[in-house]
Amino acid sequence: MLLPPSVRYCDGLVSDVARDAWSRAARNWVRHNETPNNMNDLIERPAMQALLGEVAGKRTLEVGCGLAHYSRWLAQQGAEAWGLEPAPRLLELAQAMAEAEGAGLALRAGGVELLPEYPDGHFDIVLLPMVLEYVDDLDETFRQAHRVLRPDGFVAISIVHPMRNLSVKHLTADGEELRIVSGYLNSGVYEWSLWIMKDDDGNDITCRSQRRTLQEHVEPLVRAGFLIEAILEPDAAPAAWRIDAARCKENRHCPQFLLLKAVKRER
Ligand SMILES: C[S@@+](CC[C@H](N)C(=O)[O-])C[C@H]1O[C@@H](n2cnc3c(N)ncnc32)[C@H](O)[C@@H]1O
Repeated sequence: MLLPPSVRYCDGLVSDVARDAWSRAARNWVRHNETPNNMNDLIERPAMQALLGEVAGKRTLEVGCGLAHYSRWLAQQGAEAWGLEPAPRLLELAQAMAEAEGAGLALRAGGVELLPEYPDGHFDIVLLPMVLEYVDDLDETFRQAHRVLRPDGFVAISIVHPMRNLSVKHLTADGEELRIVSGYLNSGVYEWSLWIMKDDDGNDITCRSQRRTLQEHVEPLVRAGFLIEAILEPDAAPAAWRIDAARCKENRHCPQFLLLKAVKRER
């Protein structure tokens, strides 16, 4: 199987390793987010914001909020924004950023494991942005998300597109960059220490993720009682092309993100 360098399948669970790795990589995640051509800002976040629609007056929970990009934006839009973040250094940075912006967020230390602590029907929207690969049990996560949502509330999910995840760059004879994915159906836990996983001194950090297919994301959502209302594979907007045409072209060849909106239905 063709895999990117530093990726190897392994045994075990992901969540504890991922929490510690993300905490150590916190500064590098800040740097990534400050880069004007980061693909989250260029493609994923505008698509998610469109998917969320009108949020003023809604109570939202962002699970694995990182630097709370979404929660800070939600608060600006008039939502009552709650957030969970298990990586201590990311949580600290998110709290400092929210304070500097005067955004009143309810941020709390912890990950999906804390969902059972919230009352039934407490939220209008549960966001799971770029976090599911660090979650071991999707069935339990979606069951809990379903429970804490009010009737007709929804989950908003973004992930690395499963057809892009663990892809390898290939340069054609005429210089075009393509992405090749192999072993698509080989789900499981893998270790990696690619670009983002660096500590404050630039040393590699080993993180763990779950490789899952599209089917493996959709089935537990449906089992939990959700109706899938939207699937997005976002193209870059013209403004993003002006910032980094090469990456936007590559995204058109092989989309980097996939987003899902799934609405709560009574079971
Ligand atoms: C790629 S970052 C995304 C951060 C943020 N959601 C965003 O979109 O900017 C992945 C995040 O998942 C968090 N995470 C790791 N394990 C988790 C878990 N078990 N539950 C919730 N979040 C987790 C990490 O700490 C990190 O903040």
